[in-house]
Amino acid sequence: MIRLDKILAHCGYGSRKEVKELIRKGYVLVNGEVVLDDDFKVDPQIDEITVANEDVSYDEFIYLMLNKPDGYVSATFDNNDPTVLDLIYGYENRNLFPVGRLDKDTTGLLLLTNDGKLAHKLLSPKHHVNKTYYVQYKGLLNNNAIIKFKEGIVIDDGYKCLPALLEIKGENEALITIQEGKFHQVKRMFEAVNCNVTYLQRIAFGGIKLDDKLVEGEYRLLTEEEINLLKENN
Ligand code: URA
Repeated sequence: MIRLDKILAHCGYGSRKEVKELIRKGYVLVNGEVVLDDDFKVDPQIDEITVANEDVSYDEFIYLMLNKPDGYVSATFDNNDPTVLDLIYGYENRNLFPVGRLDKDTTGLLLLTNDGKLAHKLLSPKHHVNKTYYVQYKGLLNNNAIIKFKEGIVIDDGYKCLPALLEIKGENEALITIQEGKFHQVKRMFEAVNCNVTYLQRIAFGGIKLDDKLVEGEYRLLTEEEINLLKENN
């Protein structure tokens, strides 16, 4: 059971103070009855809640797909730069956080959620979640690099990466699929074959593809199908 004012604040009806006011003024009904106590407790799965005759639908967990633009850090707070949370509106009280990190200059698919358990699973190295990036680079990539990436390339600090799939897509363009998320991993893997990444965009994560209808900075809720895919396949 959850406090009514907490649910309404979570659903975007205002701050805790504002929703208490809505409740006291009689705008809020639970199962058809006006409730005037803000600490009234409800079961959001069972009880029908309305505010000014509008049905309230409460999802405990929120899953968003953001097309991250350049210039935003993947954090909930930063002293110097805007964060990806600065791009999100209407979920202020929902404790969203980014699932993993993209570099400030990396664009593309970033999931945001408040489901700590799923995020933990998706980020855990032992789950080998696929992440695919579109890369533009300077330098020369050849079949030898494909083999090195497949066998596990050694990066600057001596770490041997897990096998990665490299697909050369044209002059200075490639796709790479990796299953881990070390700091600057793709950039460092390309450096290990004497190439310099000039543009990096994540296009898939854990079976979910970046929605090409989202322009940079836009986001949407994941569909039920996408949420199930994340939960079942990873
Ligand atoms: N690899 C990188 O180098 N940077 C990212 O943002 C993601 C993967």
